[in-house]
Amino acid sequence: MSSTNTIGALVLAAGKGTRMHSDKPKVLQELLGEPMLRYVFTALDPIFGDGIWTVIGHGADSIRTAFADEDRHFVLQAEQLGTGHALQVAWQSLIDAGISRVLVVNGDTPLLPQARLMAFMKEVVDRDADVGFMTLTLADPASFGRVVRHNGEVAAIVEAKDFDENLHGQEPNEINAGIYLLKVETVSPLLDKLQNTNKSGEYYITDLVELAVARRMRVCGVDCGQDPHLLGINNPAELVRSESLLRTNLVLEWLEQGVMIHAPETVRIGPMVYLEPGAVLHGPCELYGRSEVLRGAVVQSHVWMRDSVVAEGAEIRQFSHLEGAEVGQDCIAGPYARLRPGAVMERGSRVGNFVEMKKSVLGEKSKANHFTYLGDTEVGEGVNIGAGTITCNYDGVNKHRTVIEDGAFIGSNTALVAPVTVGKGSLVGAGSVITKDVPENSLAVARGTQRNLPRKRES
Ligand code: UD1
Ligand code: CA
Repeated sequence: MSSTNTIGALVLAAGKGTRMHSDKPKVLQELLGEPMLRYVFTALDPIFGDGIWTVIGHGADSIRTAFADEDRHFVLQAEQLGTGHALQVAWQSLIDAGISRVLVVNGDTPLLPQARLMAFMKEVVDRDADVGFMTLTLADPASFGRVVRHNGEVAAIVEAKDFDENLHGQEPNEINAGIYLLKVETVSPLLDKLQNTNKSGEYYITDLVELAVARRMRVCGVDCGQDPHLLGINNPAELVRSESLLRTNLVLEWLEQGVMIHAPETVRIGPMVYLEPGAVLHGPCELYGRSEVLRGAVVQSHVWMRDSVVAEGAEIRQFSHLEGAEVGQDCIAGPYARLRPGAVMERGSRVGNFVEMKKSVLGEKSKANHFTYLGDTEVGEGVNIGAGTITCNYDGVNKHRTVIEDGAFIGSNTALVAPVTVGKGSLVGAGSVITKDVPENSLAVARGTQRNLPRKRES
């Protein structure tokens, strides 16, 4: 491809997405836990790097916030007057950046395959077309723009609403996928020719085709067959259709990489998840965000996790819920464990049923096997936390820390009122309410003393 460096990309993402019936901007609707726009960026970033502009409007602030950590060029389309208007609004930024061709992508087409994109751009550039766009041939052209051809040559794109057999001939099955490559110099003079005299009262980017044809410019519709990855998403049904295609693709890729996935049809793996060959998953389960499951680790069924790491040889048992957690080598968590952000299990430690951890470290080989809450707590090595132990970390205003040092033993049903430290090798009697630090190697008992009295009976 010639002078790739002057090809830029423009993502149209300002629309409201009325058909989603949601307050969220459509491009923030999620597939497998990631916003639609994330996928578009993932496809474009390696090709265009810094040369990507995104038109936002509806819910612009929430889109900026969602991508705040990334250095992206956003262009504001304050009023959303149509895809053609979005292009007009962004055009000057492209010219200022010295872009000679621009790939325009609808932001609601998240599964866009990168290889397809490259092939498309090559074809349009090789044919030196002024306007190129991808087309699909569908049994049901639904609400997509119809591609009208005369003697095989593209004549126009006519939106579904505006299509009229009397004017445009027999309704075609070829539709516009919403992905265009435009030559900036020749398309520039067409932009202010766009009109909104159509059923929607909007300025359509698709009208560029007819305008270009009328000026005998080179226009090419690149036939992409029936590729379902190129279908735009406008409503919940279309979203789950694309999500389910994506889910299948990702699971098959991981299987091919050597990850053991039982009941693969019930497993959902987000696009940023990393799985090492030799990891084992049992469906149904869901892994999202930047979760990682390493070699030899096992994730049992009905587990949900996000942004969590499961190290080599660790096991997450059924019905556990992990978010922002780190499970070290050879640990066991669950069944029914809840590991919240900042939960860290060090090598060989164990967390059993109905145990919740938040911002807490459980040291090597330590155990909290039943009904426990550890919040803002640091647990040393070889500690045993008895059933029903609760760290009382919140006084209604502030959070306080609990420290349980190496080798300590906490008896069942203990309340540890933070801030408090239980020293090395100490033992806390069952049922204690510990409000003061326990020195090393001591026995702390803090509960009412038992009295045995004669039982009184009637008669
Ligand atoms: C559009 C095409 C249609 C094509 C289909 C493919 C037009 C007029 N029609 O229809 O030919 O078959 O995509 O999926 O372009 N947007 C803005 N600003 C606006 C309006 C929309 O940025 O003022 C953005 C939207 O956020 C969306 C994209 O442009 O990401 C496409 O808009 P949408 O309303 O979904 O167009 P379709 O009706 O699907
Ligand atoms: Ca659309």
